[in-house]
Order: sequence, then structure tokens, then C-alpha cells
Amino acid sequence: MGSKITIGILIAAIAPALACAQSDRPWLDAKRSPDERAMLALAAMTTDEVIGLLHGPMALPIPLPGRAPIQLPAEAILGAGYVPGVSRLGIPSLYETDGPLGVTNPFDARRGDSATALPSSLALAATFSPQLAYEVGVLLGKEARAKGFNVLLAGGVNLTRDPRNGRNFEYLGEDPLLAGLMAGESVRGTQDQHVISTVKHFVLNAHETNRHTLDARIDRAALRESDLLAFEIAIERGRPGSVMCAYNKVNGQYACGNDWLLNDVLKREWGFKGWVMSDWGAVHGSHYAVKGLDQQSGEQLDASTWFDTPLRAALAEGQVPRTRVNDMARRILRTMFAVGIVDHPPQKGAVDLQNHAAKALEVARSGMVLLTNNGLLPLKSTTPRIALIGGNAHIGVLSGGGSSQVIPANGAATRVPVGGHGMMAGFRNEMYFPSSPYKAIQAAAPKASVLFDSGAFPADAAALAARSDVAIVFVTRHELEGYDIPNLSLPPHGQDALVEAVLKANPNSVVVLETGNPVAMPWLDKAAAVLAAWYPGQEGGQAIADILFGAVNPSGRLPMTFPRDEASTVRPKLPNLGSEMGADVGVDYLEGADVGYRWYHKRGVEPLFAFGHGLSYTTFKYDTVKVSGGKTLSVSLAVENVGDRIGTDVPQVYLTSAAGKPAFRLIGFQRVELQPGERRTISTVVDSRLLSRFDEARGKWVLDKGMYSVSVGKSANDLIVAGEVRLFN
Ligand code: BGC
Repeated sequence: MGSKITIGILIAAIAPALACAQSDRPWLDAKRSPDERAMLALAAMTTDEVIGLLHGPMALPIPLPGRAPIQLPAEAILGAGYVPGVSRLGIPSLYETDGPLGVTNPFDARRGDSATALPSSLALAATFSPQLAYEVGVLLGKEARAKGFNVLLAGGVNLTRDPRNGRNFEYLGEDPLLAGLMAGESVRGTQDQHVISTVKHFVLNAHETNRHTLDARIDRAALRESDLLAFEIAIERGRPGSVMCAYNKVNGQYACGNDWLLNDVLKREWGFKGWVMSDWGAVHGSHYAVKGLDQQSGEQLDASTWFDTPLRAALAEGQVPRTRVNDMARRILRTMFAVGIVDHPPQKGAVDLQNHAAKALEVARSGMVLLTNNGLLPLKSTTPRIALIGGNAHIGVLSGGGSSQVIPANGAATRVPVGGHGMMAGFRNEMYFPSSPYKAIQAAAPKASVLFDSGAFPADAAALAARSDVAIVFVTRHELEGYDIPNLSLPPHGQDALVEAVLKANPNSVVVLETGNPVAMPWLDKAAAVLAAWYPGQEGGQAIADILFGAVNPSGRLPMTFPRDEASTVRPKLPNLGSEMGADVGVDYLEGADVGYRWYHKRGVEPLFAFGHGLSYTTFKYDTVKVSGGKTLSVSLAVENVGDRIGTDVPQVYLTSAAGKPAFRLIGFQRVELQPGERRTISTVVDSRLLSRFDEARGKWVLDKGMYSVSVGKSANDLIVAGEVRLFN
């Protein structure tokens, strides 16, 4: 009672002061619109304060050749980035953390601070579940807030054009609809927690090697129909506060200084209201301000803090108009108000880590893709002798490297420093999360003798496999930001030879892949089953055991094509293989909009596993497919679980011809969980851009009148004709 009175008195005393503060500082009035608040705040700011918002350092005292490490104010949080706010006006600083796989803590700079380490984004994409993407976004937002961050550098939505891009594990696959929806939903989830999210890297950062100099060349209309479409969908869905522009050039102009991309497409055509922040070390001049860049991030990584003294000079000389500088700050301020980081500042504190671990487990279980199965899986818990081989399966599961690397919440990770050179060399650590497949498998088969062999000597491993009932071989490939992998094979340590030896010794052998990309599988025909586990996150070992032993029915579907070999890909040889760091290199993306499955389909090239492929322990049947035309195209179908166990399917809808011409594109999908015998009708109204072509001369999407045909099925290569309808616009 007493404390209530005290609080009441306190509020009565503070209220007039608050009201006064708000009338002095009307931009703090939450009842006004974000636009109005931004204009009001801007009007109160000095030039120094405006310029101060337009640049900031990487928030780490990293040693840089020839430069003193930056000094950060005490209020900065060590992490990816920091931009001081304007405290006199109540404008918060930006506290920025990576990234899509969990809140990072680079180089353990915040001693001992860990976070929920999610499976790779490819695993999330493989769930084909925008709902799960939203929930992951919420989780990220909550953890970021609880550590004091108000900006999350997530939303990686570059299409996976090359299966050797070392950073594909951070992206959401090769299809613009899937990637766009998943990124958009995860951004929406994060921002619902009042944490600003980016989408990145705008655009065409499709290769990592020499990404700072690479010129990505592509036909503009093709770019609109592919990578730009993924961003467009993600931005519409998620309304990210910020877009991070990429390191590379696009058609000769650096992405962060690309007038067409930033001013024409993003801001004018799409009406993007947030701000464009650069990638870390991606700015090459103060004139990028007029090209559409609003903020320089990681400024100590650039040759100059372009958006400070040089920008002031450009402003004084009239090269950059004052209106533009104001617009840069206004966009940042507007976003702060719109997403709520001013009204709902981060609160440091605890999060429900148990609940978040359960979400990480759910994503891992839902995103693993069972590629083949001759019937050996699910394994019986009564199997007497099980051999586990390779992949450090006794310790845990592998994760991908680079700025997205998370230190997991479930204990210390095992870290092997790999060494090497290049800007990202410091990140070259193979990190295993302590979720041991060995322990989880032993728990799933409590009476079995489960023996582990490291796989160092194929002969030893084969001998163990031969005297076991079942062998499970784990193969890993560490991939990371900044470096493409030279080929699709399984380096190092002769893992292909190991797999061959085990499969020869025991035909009841399962291969589990822990990789960031597709791999070549010369031994595929001899394996009883192959499971793509991706980098499965901090609960990965448990999820692998759950799938192998059938506690969970696999439901992941490939978000990118697994090619047979390099020769069958768009670029048989990795562009820039062996090029010196910093070399001026270029890649012609001649496949244009035909990314992934579209390219294989057009060329009639049979992949190893098609986009959308993934097996289940039950069987699904489709019927009653209906397609209707007119002004829009809609498709419905009934899906039934005709097997004897609960399972989740992802029926997919593809366009197979447009206005009488050959076409191929995913235009709809839905993830459905069905009990044995359960049947459900699902339907989709197709986004007209997926049926259209982009007319660059007219600057718009054009839906040609005519006949459109549609197929439905289980993957891009497993389709039944659904129907043909006329569309008119
Ligand atoms: C990456 C970005 C990341 C930034 C900050 C860059 O190297 O490309 O994705 O957000 O670093 O860590």
C-alpha cells in the first residue's frame, strides 16, 4: 500500500516535468507520426549533430595497419557498430550487432557473453515457413534488446547464384519469392521487438572472394527479376529500417555509390523510407551521399571517414546540397521513431534462453533435408551396434564463420584456428557447437553400443563400420564470409575417401552433411541415406538424432539446387579462383534472372537434387488441382497424408509458361502438417510480378495477355501439370 502511494506521488510530481519535456521536445511525443517527429527533431539539430548521425565506427578496438585503434565512448557496446546519438535531444545512439544467426560477440569482445546460436539461414529457408522466420526474427530482436542493441544487421537475402559462395549459409536460397518472404518475415519479427533490422547486401554480392573489388555485371531487367525482386518482396513484407549496401560494384559502380540502385530503384521507385547504411569498409568517397548512401558504417575500415570532414567540405562547396544531408539524417531519425527505439529503448536483462533453445531446435528439425533414403531410416532404437564416424560428432556440430558467427548459449564451443590471410583472416576459426550427435544418438538408442571413430584413418573407420549394424558418417566443410570455396568436393582430410571406405564396408550406412552449401557426392549410390543437416545450430546434434531415429519426421526442402558437379553449374570454374586479394576482378552473371533451378531447367541439365526436394517418412498425395485466370492467377489443391505417421509437406506451385512462352518460376508454396489420413485444401493467389517480365525501357513490370500454364509438385523436377488459364490485365 505504502509503495503504491509513493509511486503515485512520484508520478504526480514527474508528470508535469515530462509534459514540459515533451512540449520542449515535441519529437518525443509518440502521438505524432514518425515523419513529423523526424522533421521536428531535425529542425532542432546543429550541423555537427546532423553529420554525427551519418557515420560511425565498427565498435571494436581492432588493430589496423598504420592507424591507432579507435577510442570508443564508455556507453558504446562492443560489437559490429556504433553511431553516437544526440543526448541533449533524446535521440539515442545506434548500437548495432550482427546478424541473422544470433546476436554475435566478435572475438568474445564482451567477455563471456553468449547468445542462442541458430541454424544457418539455408536451414531456415529449407523450412519454407514464413511463420518460423517471423518467430526467429522475434527471438533475435529479444536477445538483441536484452544486450542493449537497437539495430540488428540481419536479413541476408542475396540469391545463392553459385554453390561455392562462402557465405551462402547466411542467405535464404536461390528463389526470390522464398528468400524475399523469409527475409521479410524475420525482419518483421525483429522490428516488432523495437529493434531496427537491415536487409543486406544490396545487391548482387553473389561471390565473396575479392568482394571489395568485384564488378558484378548483369542485365538490369534480369536483376529486377531476380535479386532485386527478392529485396523488393523482403522490403514490402518486413519494412526494414535500413538497407545495407554491398561491397561489390554492380555494372561498374560500387553498390554503395550506385545512383541507379539506391536513388532510382530503392528510394524513388520502391518508396523506401528507411536509410541506406554501407557495409563495413564499402565507402570510397563523400560523393556517395548524392548517390543515395545515407550512412557510413565501420568507418575506420575505409580510407577516410568520408561522411565527416570530407562531407562537410562537400557541403560547404555545394557539391552535396544541404537538403540531401538533411534527408540522410531525416531517414535515420524517422526510422528510429517508426520502429520504436526512442519510445521503447532496449532494456538490458535476461531472456528466456530455454525457450529460445527450443526455437533453435525447432528450426534445425524443420530445416534438415533428407536427400535419399533406401528405407534404412528411421533407425530403430533397438539397433544393437552403431558406429559414428568423423565430423567431430563426439564433440558437436560445425558452424559457419565470419561476422555472423555466434558464441552459443549452451556452453563453450570448440574452436580450431585455421589460419590464413586476407581481411577476414581473424574469423578463420572452425567453431563446433557443443551439441554432440554422439550423446543424442546414444540417448535415442539407450541399449545400443555406440562407438565413435574420428575418421582419421579410413581403414579403421571401415573396420568399425563392418562390425556394426549401422554406420553414420558425418562430413563437414567449414565455409566463411570473405572466401569462396574452390570446388564442391569435401575437403579437407580426405572425407570422400573416408565415406567410400565406410559405405563399402557396410551398406547400411548413412551420411550426414554439415556444410554451408551443396557438395558433390561421388559415393551417393552406395549410401543408404543422406541427410543435409546444414550448419544446424546449437541444438544440432539433438535434431540430427531426432531425424535419424524418427522422433521427428523430416520436412526440410532444398532452398537451392544441389548440382552434380561444377561442370554442370553456370560457371564450371570459380570466377577469380586464386586471384590476389584486392585484384580488380569481375563476374558476368550471364544466367541473368535464371538463377538456380531456372537455369538447370532451361538448359535441360539434371541436378543431383532439385530445388524443393526433400523426403519424408510418410507419403503425400495431391489432387483436385484448380487453376483460375482472369486478372489474377490463383491455384488450389488438396494435399493428403496417405502414410501412417504425422508429417509435414511443402506443396509447390510453378509457372511453366507465360503468355505462350516457356517460363519457369516458383509462384507459391505452403508448409502443411498433416496427421495420417488428414487432407487439406491449400490455395494461393499469385503475386503478378512472378508472372510478369520487367520492361527496363518502360521501368515497370509487364504482364502480357495470354495463356499461362502451371504445374504443382514436390520439387522443381517432380511436377504434375495443373492447368492452363488465360490472363488479361
Ligand atoms: C559484413 C556484414 C556485417 C558487417 C558488420 C561485414 O563484413 O559483410 O554483413 O554486417 O561486416 O559486422
